[in-house]
Formats: sequence, C-alpha cells, structure tokens
Amino acid sequence: SQAEKGGFPHFMLKEIFEQPQAIQNTLLGRISLETFEIDLLQKEIDWLKEIVKIYVVACGTSYHAGLVGKFFLERFTQIPVEVELASEFRYREPLLHERCLFLGISQSGETADTLASLRLAKEKGAKVISICNVLGSSIARESEIVLYTQAGPEISVASTKAFTTQVLMLLLLALYIQKIKKGLNQYPELIEKLLHLPVILQEFLDKSYPRVKEISKKWYQAKDFLYLGRNILYPIALEGALKLKEIAYIHAEGYAAGEMKHGPIALIEESFPTIILAAKETGLVYEKTLSNAEEIKTRRGPLIGITTQGSEEVKRLCEDYLEVPQVPYEFLPIFYVVPLQLIAYEMAVLRGCDVDRPRNLAKSVTVE
Ligand code: G6P
Repeated sequence: SQAEKGGFPHFMLKEIFEQPQAIQNTLLGRISLETFEIDLLQKEIDWLKEIVKIYVVACGTSYHAGLVGKFFLERFTQIPVEVELASEFRYREPLLHERCLFLGISQSGETADTLASLRLAKEKGAKVISICNVLGSSIARESEIVLYTQAGPEISVASTKAFTTQVLMLLLLALYIQKIKKGLNQYPELIEKLLHLPVILQEFLDKSYPRVKEISKKWYQAKDFLYLGRNILYPIALEGALKLKEIAYIHAEGYAAGEMKHGPIALIEESFPTIILAAKETGLVYEKTLSNAEEIKTRRGPLIGITTQGSEEVKRLCEDYLEVPQVPYEFLPIFYVVPLQLIAYEMAVLRGCDVDRPRNLAKSVTVE
C-alpha cells in the first residue's frame, strides 16, 4: 500500500533513500565512540587469528558485495581472499580445511546455492561466518557466527540497501580481523570517519537525485549500456549493469575498464552509451580509466561519467556527468553505487516497468 511505501511511489526508491539510516543502524553498537575500536563479536574467537585463506561465497548482488569485500579483507588482514559464485563453488571441490574461513553473504539467508556451499564448507571443516539481513534465516542458523546487516526488511526484488550494508559489514569485518591479528587498531581515523558516513551519504542522495533524473530522461531509450570501472569500482560497474538489466530490462554489461580493449570496444558506436566510474581516490587507475574513456570518445561512443567533484578531465570527455563528493577510498563503492541504483530506477520508471516486481525474478531463490 501507499502507506507502507512511506510516500515513495515504489519500495525500491524508498529503500534507496533508506540507505543512510540502514548504514547508521548497521554501525550502531559496533564502534566505540571513545576509542574508535570495532567490536563485532561478543566474545573473542581464537581461530580467527589462525585463518590463512578466506572464501567469500554468494549470489547476485551479494556476490558483488563480496567482490568489493576482497579489497577490504586483503588490504587490512593480509589474508588471501577468493570470491566465488555459490552455484560454482558448491560443485567444484574447493580446497577447504580447518584454517579456511568460509564467508557467506546473503540478504535473505535462504538462497539455495549459498546454503549448500555453506554446508559443504562445514563438512570439510572450514570455519563459517555469514553476513545476513534476515534474523533466524537458514544461513544464519547454520553459521557459527552471524553478522547481521541492519538494513531492515527489503521488499523490492532489486537489492539496494542490503548491498550497501553488506559492503559496510565487510569493511567492519576486515578492520576487526586486522585488530585481532595485530592486537592493535591501526586505523582509528578511518573508523572515526565511518561515523560521519550516513550524513554525507544523505546529502549526496538528495543532491544527486535531480541530476540522475535529467541523465535518465536523456538516455533511457538506449538499447545497450556499457558500465566501466576499475579496482574497487569494477564490482560497482557489475552491480550497476545488473540493476539496469533486472528492473529496466535494458541490456547492460559491466566490465573492467582496462579489459575493454579485449572485446567490448568492438561494440562502441554512437548509439551505445558507456557509464564510466572514475574516482580520483583510486589514484593511478583513475588516470588509466581516463585513457579508457578517451578510447571510447575516439570511437564516438557517448560517455556518462560518474566522477569526483571538480575533475575537469572527466567533464571534458563526457556528454553528461554526475559529481560525487571526495570520500575515503573505502567508501567509494557505497557512494558510486547509489547513482547507479537511481539511474536503473529512473530508467525503469520511464520505460513503464514494474519496478518492485520485475518479470522472471524472485526476491530469494530457494530452489536450485
Ligand atoms: C535474487 C535476488 C537478488 C539477490 C540474489 C541473492 O536473485 O533477486 O536481488 O541479490 O537473489 O540473494 P541473497 O538473499 O542470497 O542475497
């Protein structure tokens, strides 16, 4: 009903705008306001220090959160991480032993492939942690440790606030394992900044939505889109493309910008727009992304840039652009996914799609 949507025309839009609150709720009680220490578990877990390998396993949007998580986990814990689709993991005899950590990510906690993967990991003696949004769900019940995202109920089939809170939880977990391993919190400044994240994200949402509307109106009739990103924004390119496919039924491909020359560049022409994610905070790959954009422009492909405030290079290259405030590197996935969620939403509405209940899709896939 209209009341349930809190004045928004669709659950998806409501849930997109709930993200600052969802993040706030997920942070609640997990960071000390005096020492900026992260605490995720009630008691200290001895085996956490002994882990030599992490398998992050999930499906759909949760898998994209896992791809982001690899950057956090490897950077802060120095433990090698593999991220895998649950439907692949469960059938390939992964090398599991008791010093492996299986990290399952699932909004619903009921996805059949993720659950089967978790059972396999347990059988082989791996340790199990899951990141879930639904209290007491199957995956939560079967995990030794559950880290709950506090996104609240997600009604729209297309996942939004569950994704950003999963990304946040992966960052918290990486920083927590860092502290446990070293016996010292090496990143108090970053953790302090996390406390301001909900407020800056709220401002960004309010500011960028009108701009997203203009961009969407101009481009929604395109038949295909290419989404490009690198480094920590590569998974966000995948997620942006997935959102557009799911709800606007527009063919879209997410690609690592540096890999474009090995294929997708053959498709570039005037009617094939590219959404390019270019954040100055990614340093060297920012420059590299610009030269990838240059290659597209040379072939007369239209460019839509999502980029750091004040980056003149991107403005010069792109037909349209949307500016993102400067934020710490670790916050980039959250800030860059938001305009992509909004673009998918707006284009779906303009194309007359049933946003909250897209055809052929289910909120959770409980059978194989
Ligand atoms: C379905 C949903 C997606 C979701 C995926 C994984 O395909 O439509 O939005 O990302 O399942 O779901 P989970 O609940 O395991 O995160």
